[in-house]
Amino acid sequence: MLVFIGGTGLNQLPGFKVNHELAIATPYQDAPVIIACGNVGDCDQEIGFLPRHGTGHTLPPHRINYRANLFAIREAGAGAVIAVNAVGGIHAELGPGVIAVPDQIIDYTHSRAHTFFDGQLTGIDSPDQFSATVTHVDFTEPYDGNLRNLLISSAQDIDVPVWPQGVYGATQGPRLETPAEIRRLQRDGCDMVGMTGMPEAGLARELSLPYASIALSVNWGAGLSDDVITMEGIRRVLARGMGNIQAILLRAAERYHA
Ligand code: HPA
Repeated sequence: MLVFIGGTGLNQLPGFKVNHELAIATPYQDAPVIIACGNVGDCDQEIGFLPRHGTGHTLPPHRINYRANLFAIREAGAGAVIAVNAVGGIHAELGPGVIAVPDQIIDYTHSRAHTFFDGQLTGIDSPDQFSATVTHVDFTEPYDGNLRNLLISSAQDIDVPVWPQGVYGATQGPRLETPAEIRRLQRDGCDMVGMTGMPEAGLARELSLPYASIALSVNWGAGLSDDVITMEGIRRVLARGMGNIQAILLRAAERYHA
């Protein structure tokens, strides 16, 4: 199964025919994680869909239970995860409406439960799962290369331009950045800034789940244009840009082979 994690502007997947919902218990929260399963378009590939902000978009980035979500996705038997992220553009080519498939991450988040290997037993019984041992996963390539290629070639297939790389700077939020913070991210080499890329990608790696992101720039980073960043402006770009993201996801589902 290929699982899509929906972000801001993608709480639902148009054309997605849900045939059942999985309610998966995890050690990380009382409520089960709900993953909708079904198919998109005419494609046979089973798709799972999990909106990370909740179905009513009620969870801010720092309150999302990333561990519960990733744990549940693995329990559901996912072979791969494609995450959708709304971002602010920092690189000159990543203005509002541009889609990117990032290849690197810098993590500026804090105070989030960001690892399964917490140095203590997590209440999971199975001995092959996480334990009190100290583990450091390799994160040289934070996004899965095959999945990135799938996204890039799926976009090419349907003539949607995408920026095929980029450094994703993950900030804590929920407030937007100051211009000085954006300049710092720029100096660090960030091409885009978002609030949900981490710890999600790192947790997927800890579970050995192939994971990639498709990011839609919905505004210029603070101070990079004269416009004040408003939710209204962001919503307008989302409304225009999500159609292309959905088309890429549909094509990726058609081309994906486990
Ligand atoms: N900063 C951080 N996260 C974001 C932004 C931004 O400008 N736009 C969308 N997500």
